[in-house]
Amino acid sequence: MPAVIILGAQWGDEGKGKATDQLGVRAEYVVKYNGGNNAGHTVVVGEEKFALHLLPSGILSPACTPVIGNGVVVDLDVLFGELAELDSRGVDTSRLRISSKAHIITPYTKMMDALSENALGSAKIGTTGRGIGPTYADKASRLGLRIQDLFEPAELRRKVEASLAHKTPLIRALGGQELSASEVVDQLLSYVDRVAPMVCDVAHELNEALDAGKTVVFEGGQSTMLDLDHGTYPYVTSSNATAGGACTGSGVGPTRINRVVGVMKAYVTRVGEGPFPTELLGTEGEWLRERGGEFGVTTGRARRCGWYDAPVARYSSRVNGMTDIVLTKLDVLSGLEQIPVCVAYEIDGKRVEEVPSSEAEFARAKPIYEYLPGWSEDISQCVCFEDLPQHAQEYVRYVEKISMCRISSIGVGADRTQTIILRDLID
Ligand code: GDP
Ligand code: IMO
Ligand code: MG
Repeated sequence: MPAVIILGAQWGDEGKGKATDQLGVRAEYVVKYNGGNNAGHTVVVGEEKFALHLLPSGILSPACTPVIGNGVVVDLDVLFGELAELDSRGVDTSRLRISSKAHIITPYTKMMDALSENALGSAKIGTTGRGIGPTYADKASRLGLRIQDLFEPAELRRKVEASLAHKTPLIRALGGQELSASEVVDQLLSYVDRVAPMVCDVAHELNEALDAGKTVVFEGGQSTMLDLDHGTYPYVTSSNATAGGACTGSGVGPTRINRVVGVMKAYVTRVGEGPFPTELLGTEGEWLRERGGEFGVTTGRARRCGWYDAPVARYSSRVNGMTDIVLTKLDVLSGLEQIPVCVAYEIDGKRVEEVPSSEAEFARAKPIYEYLPGWSEDISQCVCFEDLPQHAQEYVRYVEKISMCRISSIGVGADRTQTIILRDLID
């Protein structure tokens, strides 16, 4: 099965890093196609825990080539910081490839992220503050800097000056510190020699790899409900995390994709602002947060927690053309007498089965729950479906039915090995 997309099907942090790593050990390429260091993907290998932000999880698999696609925004300082940290832990990072078309996060796009959040006040998005939105805004405004610009210093200077000419009045008005174009250019040029060996034509290399029957795994950052087009706009990130983003963000056409895997927690979490129908604000939410260790990998923020939301699952399945679900963190639910599952919403007194396309209506959606019996056993050592307690099996089968997509693996712990595999995602 040569081309597999792994993506988030809720509001992020579903366990994409672990799912990608599991396939990455058998893949020739792992490609990050969207976002930047707003992501925080955790991979646990025995005693070792890795938190990857800008780098694809495939970097941990010695036989795999990790790739940063054109759809990614790259903070060069973060890139070399993350590489240095992995090097110091004995990971071979020399195989990393970066698209010449990937855009660069600059000191001024980073500054604009903070200034615009500040200006929004109580209407803020709750971004990760990494400069992601303003960098994509520059890309869409044709004011962006791409990795290839690092090799044309005069052009780079011209582009930095053009972008700053747009931004400086705004930076001033929002109370920010003016930036010198020369200092920005000098800072960016200081990375040239180190970036040069990594740069390549990613679309060309990946298409050749697929022609040769190699396995390519696409690792989504963020998630469907944070997708710029399909998420809960404006409380979203600024890239396409959905399946189509894997194609535009890498230069591989949709006809080449064999499988689209949506990663979902057995419950739901969200970081930042925005609607979240099943959110638990009281002690149940705290219980999930503590048991699930729900604190952000990137910002350390406490994640908002809630019950499984089937309309969101069905919506994600549809907009991504999902073929499989990877259900994660089932172990976290052990110890509950009963487990609510949101099966539909009540909006303005009416029962609504699907995620409404109106942002205002979604903000008013109240969950309608079905209650499933819980189980008390620790399931973290279960290796096959039959090892799970009867009620855990029933929960999985119910979630699968109501989400209208096949569940192909079940996470019962953070370690690489703590997964019940029902169906091989690469074969
Ligand atoms: P990502 O952004 O989608 O890669 O997910 P994060 O790494 O931000 O958050 C997922 C967290 O859950 C990490 O701490 C993982 O180590 C952990 N995790 C992943 N799968 C499981 C699982 O099945 N059970 C438990 N207990 N933890 C898991
Ligand atoms: P992974 O890949 C969870 C959220 C932020 C904010 C919104 C916009 O680890 O699942 P941005 O900085 O992207 O402009 O912030 O998106 N967000 C994430 N939430 N997991 C992530 O990544 C996220 N990346 C961004 O909290 O609400
Ligand atoms: Mg994460």
